[in-house]
Amino acid sequence: MCRRRLAFLTLALVATAAAPQAQRPQGAALLRQPEPMSVGIFYYPEQWPHSQWKRDLDNIAKLGFDFTHYAEFAWTFLEPEENRFDFAWLDDAIDLAAKAGLRVILGTPSAAPPSWMGTRYPEVYRVDEHGRRHEHGIRAEVSLANPTYAAFVDRVVTTLAERYGRDRRVWGWQIDNEPGTFSDYSDSARDAFRRWLRDKYGDVDRMNAAWGGSFWSTRYGAFDEVRIPNATLAAEDKLSPHALLDFARYQADTTARFLDRQAAIIRRHAGDKQWVTTNYTNVTTSTDPRRSTGLDFVTFTLYPVAGANILGGESYAIGNPVRLMEAAAYYRTITGTFGVMELQPGQVNWGGVNPQPAPGAVAMWIWHAFGAGASLLSSYRYRHPLRGSEMYHEGIVGTDGVTLSRTGREFVETMTDVKAVARRLDPRATSPSGLAARRTGFLWSHDVFWDLEHQPQTTEWKTWAHRNTYTEAIKSTGAPMDFVAEHDDFDQYAFLVAPAYQMVNDALVAKWRRYVEGGGHLVLTCRSGQKDAVGHFHEGPWAQPILDLIGADVEGFDMLPAGAAAHVTSGGRTHAWHRWADILAPRPGTETLASYTDRYYAGRAAATRRSLGRGTVTMIGVSSDDGTLERELVRDVYRRAGVAIEDLPRGVFVDWRDGAYVAVNYSPTSVRLNVQAGIEILHGRNPLAPAGVLVWRDAPR
Ligand code: GAL
Repeated sequence: MCRRRLAFLTLALVATAAAPQAQRPQGAALLRQPEPMSVGIFYYPEQWPHSQWKRDLDNIAKLGFDFTHYAEFAWTFLEPEENRFDFAWLDDAIDLAAKAGLRVILGTPSAAPPSWMGTRYPEVYRVDEHGRRHEHGIRAEVSLANPTYAAFVDRVVTTLAERYGRDRRVWGWQIDNEPGTFSDYSDSARDAFRRWLRDKYGDVDRMNAAWGGSFWSTRYGAFDEVRIPNATLAAEDKLSPHALLDFARYQADTTARFLDRQAAIIRRHAGDKQWVTTNYTNVTTSTDPRRSTGLDFVTFTLYPVAGANILGGESYAIGNPVRLMEAAAYYRTITGTFGVMELQPGQVNWGGVNPQPAPGAVAMWIWHAFGAGASLLSSYRYRHPLRGSEMYHEGIVGTDGVTLSRTGREFVETMTDVKAVARRLDPRATSPSGLAARRTGFLWSHDVFWDLEHQPQTTEWKTWAHRNTYTEAIKSTGAPMDFVAEHDDFDQYAFLVAPAYQMVNDALVAKWRRYVEGGGHLVLTCRSGQKDAVGHFHEGPWAQPILDLIGADVEGFDMLPAGAAAHVTSGGRTHAWHRWADILAPRPGTETLASYTDRYYAGRAAATRRSLGRGTVTMIGVSSDDGTLERELVRDVYRRAGVAIEDLPRGVFVDWRDGAYVAVNYSPTSVRLNVQAGIEILHGRNPLAPAGVLVWRDAPR
């Protein structure tokens, strides 16, 4: 196994930069937890004989878990017949948990309605993009836009909140399950989309203008004529990107309102004694978590090992290296507090291939979540199911219901280790100045993401992979990174990276300019600035609004089939590319960082840099095949700004929390961190084996 030496610079403890603006700061306070990171486990009483509940809950408590989680898919047991509720079983389960010393999170059951609902009201089901109506027999089959379903949700949530909103044994609430994962093309959605458009545009001609209705006679005479752009409309030709973008926005708004409505009901009954969250997927494609305003904090679900092999070797068993790193950076900034509501306990059932996590992987994910700042972490699930569609999914205990699985044992041991280390740390410690100096904002907008996905222009373009390339490049420096939105304060970040920021308006460009003139270092990447915020091209030179900012013209762009020979050279190194190339013409005063070597634009600039006021603007117009060019150019931005950086290999991340550094290794090779002499190692060892962890703090001065 190859061992690598890395320089990890000494970092002095001085003042920290301001924490990201928390929109709902009550989140952390509401958790009111004695532990820096509370750890719990999902338990489904309805899936097990009543005679085993006490044994299981007592065992969960004995293992050291702080809380359990009930009822998210139990609607059929809560309301077995329309408007007949049964809470006896849940009362009992809550009582047993409390007697065992466990706090309880209650799930609202909206993701799994009972069969009677669909039998009597088939309109509650969602319809997919091919026009197929879903049916009972799986979860998340409903239309969030359907008023009948909404009324049933209101009633079951109200009834639950009336009963448990003041129950001190109930710690908080999780609304729904992985909300907004599926698009809905039902008649209910069509009607709601029309209302959404009417609210947004007021006048149908304003919508026609935004949607380019003069093209192909696609304009409408009234909002009630609008149909949802769906797969049956798109044969050979492409759907209107403007209609698609508005539909994506409508769907995300619908999910946000669905969550906020449930949150408001719970809050009406619970006051401020219990918190409300949901469990988003770690990457959300059709949901935009920033659109919801009713949650106290957000959590996400995380299953790193499900067959993907990103870093080669046996890293498929350690897991996707970017998932937790990016999700923490994203969700952390929404309210300032986040949790991991579901962490893979072992082998899962739903991947294309479902390998065993490598020994150490589960432990490393828990440490990673802790280091990245999670306040709550829950594993999914306690018992290995004996029946049902997830019966090949491991639990903390195996099929006998009592014996810890291999990974369950690892989970429990790590939970104990993390708690022991956390007790020795200081949550009020200020972050080292060396970290504050490289604090980086990562500008992300779901609107821009959707628009890129609607018009990728090449099947080789992968918005998510583009984002991963840049987050990995940033984290290779050891920088703390937060995802930020356009309305956030950029000035708290020394560096700001906006990947493929296709849609811009004048206000955003002016804000970027002020940020740079004030000393910020801005990195824009290919495709940036092509469109306005509506999604139209600018009438003028290509990417007009950003040209003065980047100090270059964009002469055109190219994309090639996979395998086509095309290269770009920078600093004496050559990199292959084929996905995207902006052909740049630097204006006087702008430096060329990389140039194309082939085709008719050989010698033209692929990446540029200019100084502006006290800061710099770097434009990386090319997407290289392996991301090494981007990594080098991003790292160079920090170096040229005079900021000390690390050189962490792919899959190695170092976070700082409560006075300690937490390093994790998702790569298939051992990695030695060259830490300062005299540090206090709190956990793990150096070098970090694959799936290894090292936790340390600086020696006292
Ligand atoms: C999650 C989901 C859970 C469970 C789990 C199995 O995505 O939220 O309810 O199905 O997958 O791994």
